[in-house]
Amino acid sequence: MSEPLLEARGVTRSVWDGDREATILHDVSLTIEAGERLALLGPSGCGKSTLLHILGGLDADYQGSVRVAGTALEGLSDRELAALRNGTLGFVFQSYNLLGHLSALDNVLLPARFGANGAEPARAVRILEELGLGDKVRRRPATLSGGERQRVAIARALYSRPKVVLCDEPTGNLDRETASEILDLFNRLTAEGVALLVATHDDAIAHTAHRTIRLLGGRLR
Ligand SMILES: Nc1ncnc2c1ncn2[C@@H]1O[C@H](COP(=O)(O)OP(=O)(O)OP(=O)(O)O)[C@@H](O)[C@H]1O
Ligand SMILES: [Mg+2]
Repeated sequence: MSEPLLEARGVTRSVWDGDREATILHDVSLTIEAGERLALLGPSGCGKSTLLHILGGLDADYQGSVRVAGTALEGLSDRELAALRNGTLGFVFQSYNLLGHLSALDNVLLPARFGANGAEPARAVRILEELGLGDKVRRRPATLSGGERQRVAIARALYSRPKVVLCDEPTGNLDRETASEILDLFNRLTAEGVALLVATHDDAIAHTAHRTIRLLGGRLR
């Protein structure tokens, strides 16, 4: 068996909700190996986004341990975490998190502009083309549809050739045909050895995943 690319042990996350502490993730453990496609299911509010943010190094306020490609997230400096997010990890946000004043292409290239290897616009254009946005690379997010913005967010996550890709509802705003193209893309990624975790309500993603896990009230079922 290969080394897990993503490993969470006993992840628990509590928040202050008014005057009381509420636990929104309870003791969550999971592993994902290279080439594995895992669907994270569960009703709205069960903790999917919370878990993905922790696994993606975007929220450090948890108990438990997370390893990404062999590196423990706990104890990494902000700079080391940023480097990991910029190289090893790809994250597709539920809310896209695109910058409004930048074109689709510049949104894809933005993380690379901060990285050590420099930006390769031609490759970013190729990824956008692959996602059906070849004629829209110069557009700003405000002039794109929700599904188009979502595809820009996916392109941005894939640009750095990450080993681990975390997607929060990546097909939530896509029609069936575009969603199935995204599914094909996911299949190709995992065939190349990427570990993919997708939080979704989309049955098609759940059915084509290698494994599904289900959260209910912050616990894995
Ligand atoms: N900072 C916070 N303070 C208080 N409650 C929070 C905080 N962040 C998340 N929650 C609560 O934790 C629960 C889990 O939220 P989360 O966004 O992870 O759900 P989700 O499974 O992604 O839902 P959806 O399918 O609607 O995207 C929700 O009840 C939410 O209101
Ligand atoms: Mg969510």
